[in-house]
Amino acid sequence: MKVLGIAGSPRRGGNTDLLLAEVMKGATSRGAEVKTIILNDLKIAPCQHCDACLETGRCKVEDDMQMVYRELEDADRIVLASPIQFMGITAQMKAMIDRCQALWARKYLLKIAPLGNGRERKGFFISVAGRKIANVFEPALVMIKTVFRILDITYAGELLFLGVDEKRAIAKQPDALRQAFLAGQELVGKSLSQ
Ligand SMILES: Cc1cc2nc3c(=O)[nH]c(=O)nc-3n(C[C@H](O)[C@H](O)[C@H](O)COP(=O)(O)O)c2cc1C
Repeated sequence: MKVLGIAGSPRRGGNTDLLLAEVMKGATSRGAEVKTIILNDLKIAPCQHCDACLETGRCKVEDDMQMVYRELEDADRIVLASPIQFMGITAQMKAMIDRCQALWARKYLLKIAPLGNGRERKGFFISVAGRKIANVFEPALVMIKTVFRILDITYAGELLFLGVDEKRAIAKQPDALRQAFLAGQELVGKSLSQ
């Protein structure tokens, strides 16, 4: 089983990075093969709305997103991690998601087999917000659930923490990292049919 973690924060070693690392450790402890992509280290242009993908199902922008498409195709479990910025996901994560327009075109316009060839795949979301505002995660959840649905990836849950602002503040909540480790184990341990 391959687990792909995608880190959307610009802050290395920050709160969502720490949570993502624990999820991946949990998955590894159950025998999964894991890989983490740091979006901030990649060159992923925002979607140019050139509509080339509507004809071909392929994005014509030759940047690091081409590698991300391949990783998205290979993974059995996909963990997206993004802190909340201005009530939503980070620009890095949004750019990657917008480039999934090519995958939307494949599925809905060109009727090409979905990524993963219909095998069982699951997705998980990790986020933190500095403030304790009601509904702060709602816009992010709508976007994340939408991209998983378009990619035919079953939404398997999330870990969301409010009031986590300073770098590594999440580490002061020992239960948070433990929850992340257990979530990683559960993500690879259960079959959807169970
Ligand atoms: C540009 C920017 C915008 C932010 N906007 C919000 C916000 O709308 N609501 C909130 O609760 N926290 C906001 N935050 C705080 C981050 O969510 C918080 O610092 C978080 O712990 C960062 O996680 P990270 O260490 O994984 O990057 C913002 C931070 C930045 C840098």
